[in-house]
Amino acid sequence: MKSKVVLVTGANGGLGAYVTQAFLDAGATVIGTSRKIQQSDFNNPNFTALPAEISTREGAQTLLDKVVARFGKIEVLAHTVGGFAGGQSIADTDDTTFQRMFDLNLNCVFHMLRAAIPPLRNSDHGRIIAIGSRAALEPGAGVGAYSASKAAMVSLIRTVALENKDAGLTANVILPGTIDTPTNRKTIPNADVSKWVQPSSIADLVLWLASEAGKDVTGSVIPVYGKDA
Ligand SMILES: NC(=O)c1ccc[n+]([C@@H]2O[C@H](COP(=O)([O-])OP(=O)(O)OC[C@H]3O[C@@H](n4cnc5c(N)ncnc54)[C@H](OP(=O)(O)O)[C@@H]3O)[C@@H](O)[C@H]2O)c1
Repeated sequence: MKSKVVLVTGANGGLGAYVTQAFLDAGATVIGTSRKIQQSDFNNPNFTALPAEISTREGAQTLLDKVVARFGKIEVLAHTVGGFAGGQSIADTDDTTFQRMFDLNLNCVFHMLRAAIPPLRNSDHGRIIAIGSRAALEPGAGVGAYSASKAAMVSLIRTVALENKDAGLTANVILPGTIDTPTNRKTIPNADVSKWVQPSSIADLVLWLASEAGKDVTGSVIPVYGKDA
């Protein structure tokens, strides 16, 4: 990964922090973004924090413009931004929740893709790795807005894979089951955490997809369900 310029969205999140650290450990130049990201979040000279709100076209485009102006290129987009809402049937789902799920899980990735694809195509070996959810393929009662937004995201990434093969740009989406994050440990206190997916496993997979070895893998939708498989 040395000499690679990698942009991680959601870099201070439960999973994003592992993905960011894994790229840093591999010697990449990593730009970490989120609304509240700080330079002090990662103690590494190859890390740069660029705060951004990416649920709007303008926010995502300004971020990419800054990355390219400062680093001259981008070769990997690892998109981890997303969020969950559950507990309401479709009949009871309010407009605000539905809109929030689509802003977080679909609009963010759409705006990032629009802004990042042109410079990624320029690199001849660009990589896009997005984090979806098991719920994209396996909707459950009470999580309709979340599932639908992640399913739409999968469709978007597969389309991007088809549209950019000519430039050697790959696009893949990982579908985690429940991840062993501090937030999940707090909000689901009595769970059997041994069944959860370790964030480091997902980070390793992201790294592999971003590597030279992953160059022929594109348009794939990869379940990572842990022991709940
Ligand atoms: N946790 C799970 O069990 C689980 C299971 C399946 C799939 N997933 C998926 O895995 C991904 C990571 O999950 P996680 O648990 O690590 O999430 P998380 O801890 O909530 O992290 C979300 C990240 O997104 C950033 N963010 C949110 N809205 C943003 C916006 N508008 N603009 C820029 N940054 C924004 C947050 O930082 P700021 O607040 O600083 O902006 C944070 O860095 C998500 O896509 C999630 O849907 C998670």
